[in-house]
Amino acid sequence: MTLHSYMADLVMTIVFVMFLIVEAQVPVSFTQNYLSSTDPNHIRVLNAGGSVDLVLDQYSASGFASKNKYLFGFIELQIKLVPGNSAGTVTAYYMASDTMQHDEIDFEFLGNVSGQPYSLQTNVYASGTGDREQRINLWFDPTADFHSYSLLWNKQQIIFLVDQTPIRVYMNSEDIGVPYLNQQPMGVYSSIWNGDQWATQGGSVKLDWTMAPFVASYQGFSIDACQVQNANTTPCIANTSNWWEYVDYQMLASRQINDLTWVRDNWLTYNYCADRRRFKTQAPECARNPL
Ligand SMILES: *[C@@H]1O[C@H](CO)[C@@H](O)[C@H](O)[C@H]1NC(C)=O
Ligand SMILES: *[C@@H]1O[C@H](CO)[C@@H](O)[C@H](O)[C@H]1NC(C)=O
Repeated sequence: MTLHSYMADLVMTIVFVMFLIVEAQVPVSFTQNYLSSTDPNHIRVLNAGGSVDLVLDQYSASGFASKNKYLFGFIELQIKLVPGNSAGTVTAYYMASDTMQHDEIDFEFLGNVSGQPYSLQTNVYASGTGDREQRINLWFDPTADFHSYSLLWNKQQIIFLVDQTPIRVYMNSEDIGVPYLNQQPMGVYSSIWNGDQWATQGGSVKLDWTMAPFVASYQGFSIDACQVQNANTTPCIANTSNWWEYVDYQMLASRQINDLTWVRDNWLTYNYCADRRRFKTQAPECARNPL
């Protein structure tokens, strides 16, 4: 090796390491992964894409969508919900396929009157069938600060997490005839809209437009998931080298089971699995899922 090529090598290594450091420090901007679905009055892209506000007022709801579709991975957003009187508002954050046999994984934040707790409703649609709602209250005020809401999605399970605490798990129960979300690419979406027909205290409290605009804020736009290119899902299905497929992520760790038990015992307010008025027979996956 000549001195010259050695020096060139060294420089390349230094440049590469610097790139990694910069990469680790610079937050992913909104525009890298997402597109707005509304006009600039209803979505404000701030701090060079470091944060985004979604605005709901009398004129329009608002939302954004990922540029790409994914099959398996880790999806996360940090959200600060509408402060004050948010009754009637729904802030939804979900993944969904755009097929007839709809697949969807939902977080829905249901607003409330000032001082009353937000409800976080989750749901799973697999091959067109939903009706799997669960609701929790949160152990913090979600309007005071940003908190992380994430989904870990692999071939074995889908974990819903709030600040790294699992609040729900939907296991792959295909072996007992329950459809799982492992064929269809899904986009990532968020929106804020008027859901006052049903959202707050069963629809009895309506949205108060004199409080508009209602603003939900977002940051942390990285997506660590298998991107589906040209509708070809095979590479994502066959790929076992991604971290979220590793054995450690195929079931909950014991600490996570403790956390989930704590959520179920203290914060769960509705569970479709326990609603015998609505479902005469319990859905088969209920016996399998830890919550
Ligand atoms: C709103 O507050 C009421 C009263 O505390 C509570 O019963 C309800 O679950 C809360 N959430 C929603 C979305 O209505
Ligand atoms: C597996 O997926 C990752 C991205 O998630 C990609 O970089 C890699 O090339 C894929 N490997 C195969 C064998 O498809």
